[in-house]
Amino acid sequence: MVSFDIVTIFPEVVDAYKSVGILSIAQKKNLVEINSHNLRKWTTDKHKTVDGTPAGDGPGMILKVEPIYKAIQDLKRENTIVAITTPKGERLVQPKLREFSNVKDLHMIILCGRYEGFDQRIYDNLVDYEFSIGDYVLAGGELPALVLVDGITRLIPGVLGNSDSLNEESFDNNQLEYPQYTQPENFNGWKIPSVLLSGDHKKVEEYRNSLKKKVE
Ligand code: ADE
Repeated sequence: MVSFDIVTIFPEVVDAYKSVGILSIAQKKNLVEINSHNLRKWTTDKHKTVDGTPAGDGPGMILKVEPIYKAIQDLKRENTIVAITTPKGERLVQPKLREFSNVKDLHMIILCGRYEGFDQRIYDNLVDYEFSIGDYVLAGGELPALVLVDGITRLIPGVLGNSDSLNEESFDNNQLEYPQYTQPENFNGWKIPSVLLSGDHKKVEEYRNSLKKKVE
């Protein structure tokens, strides 16, 4: 089974999202396991400190190496991929999601950033995959972690009911999907293109192909 262990100081964010929609269905079908873990569990001091001031001074706080190291020691298995969220990481793209979804019994630990980032020794010694979801800076890594989990999970065979919806997918083959419509045929004078109602499958396919947009 594909399995994710998400390490965060806000596990409730992960728990809320994993309990709805496709992620919830995939867990119920035992196709994926998604666990959230509070990083503070691996602290030893009274205040459960996960961050510290930067060595050599500077703004903000840095996530400490010890609790993260302990979390990884506790959670890692034989073939674990340790991923970390950072705006400095490799940009996450659809082919990468597909690559992960094809790994047999994928087990991924995802470390969610907060504050000004992680102690560099974490990147240097503990992590296999640094990823960013775009060229902007978020307040934390929980959303990027969930983007990764969501994007991989929906590609796991058996998760989506209709496998055709995966074959014709946006961004695969560098193409965006064609426009889609559903009933009513006419709303406010806004009509469904008549070719889609013609029943001529060849014409429908030609029409759709002509409207697929290329992405750079
Ligand atoms: N943490 C903060 N911003 C991020 C981003 N754009 N991608 C991944 N992790 C982040």
